[in-house]
Amino acid sequence: LSPKIPFELISSPQEAINVFDFEPVAFKRVPLAHFAYMATGIDDEVTLRANRSAFQKFPLRPRRMRDVSHVDTSITLFGSKWKSPIMIAPTGGNKAYDPEGEVAVARAARAGGYLNVLSAAGASTIEEVVAARQGEVWFSLYATSSTEVAKQVVRRVERVGVPVLEITVDRNGGRNQETFFRLKKMDSRTCSNCHVHGFGSAQERPIYDGIDMTGINMSSSNMTWDFIQKMRDVTKMKIVLKGILTEEDASLCLKYGVDGIHVSNHGGRSEDGGRGAIECLPEVAKVAKGKVPILFDSGVRRGSDVFKAMALGANAVCIGRPYLWGLGAFGQPGVERVMEILQTEFKSTMQQMGAPNIAAIQSSMVFKGA
Ligand code: FNR
Repeated sequence: LSPKIPFELISSPQEAINVFDFEPVAFKRVPLAHFAYMATGIDDEVTLRANRSAFQKFPLRPRRMRDVSHVDTSITLFGSKWKSPIMIAPTGGNKAYDPEGEVAVARAARAGGYLNVLSAAGASTIEEVVAARQGEVWFSLYATSSTEVAKQVVRRVERVGVPVLEITVDRNGGRNQETFFRLKKMDSRTCSNCHVHGFGSAQERPIYDGIDMTGINMSSSNMTWDFIQKMRDVTKMKIVLKGILTEEDASLCLKYGVDGIHVSNHGGRSEDGGRGAIECLPEVAKVAKGKVPILFDSGVRRGSDVFKAMALGANAVCIGRPYLWGLGAFGQPGVERVMEILQTEFKSTMQQMGAPNIAAIQSSMVFKGA
């Protein structure tokens, strides 16, 4: 029997032997419409599937006979030291999975010492999340159709001490969440106050609370490169663009002076019909490696995936759905355990690969011709 097929659902986070163990528990506990919103992709979900399968195109090339009795997974990012390069990606409306939502995630990040990023579509405020984390939190911005609204949000976020602003640049059009739409019809509940609502209703998102949103669209389909300078004019926060997938845009990131590049296809939730995100990382790294930090996400489920991304040029690696599985299954302790499992797997992959520290993770440790 495959170890990936659980004989029965786990009943506590400690029983989990990999992050997949949380998914069926979350499926059982989370309302169907919420689970479907989280799990599914766009159109035919080609990109969603490619995010997982593409990791197999980069098999590992392990090195032997190296002292890996002590492994140091720590990294430094924009001057802050972290015990692990594994980070918690921004995801909207976390109260859909647990009543404490983003606050539970922030507490889990604090307990394990991980970096977490709050989404502009979050169901909790930045003030609540910073208070729960009691440490560094990043913020990811949905810029909306109004630069003025974006500026107000950015000022608020900077006031509570957020040092890094991610600008999510890959949600600028409509999206056909076909599987989600179909599954949602099978969920007859009425949601009240358990999460923020659709992408179009910005008023209900805590971060835009108190801002006049009349006529404002959540989609920043009018955003171009001059937006970076507009944000620079109002903030000293570091600026990272999230959703970059090509070397052309990586070059433009450098030209326009962004401080970091986040390679991501939004977990297959933006356009469909693309490459797996890991396939996009090498061309971005070719242009940007060593110049600005590179973050990576989309499809990461194993410590070996984290290792591959680091070998292909990432400085840090985020996860999305796995921590939402943990959150939906067991709340904060579920998120803690998901992070612990990934960190343990990553550490043992480093040992197997002959890399006792992050600097020892070489590009040659991943085969690129498969
Ligand atoms: C997301 N993601 C996301 N990204 C962002 O910049 N702002 C957001 O509000 C959200 N919201 C969101 C909700 C849900 C339910 C999911 C699953 C994802 C994308 C997220 O930051 C990250 O890029 C992906 O989740 C990474 O892919 P995996 O790990 O889910 O495969």
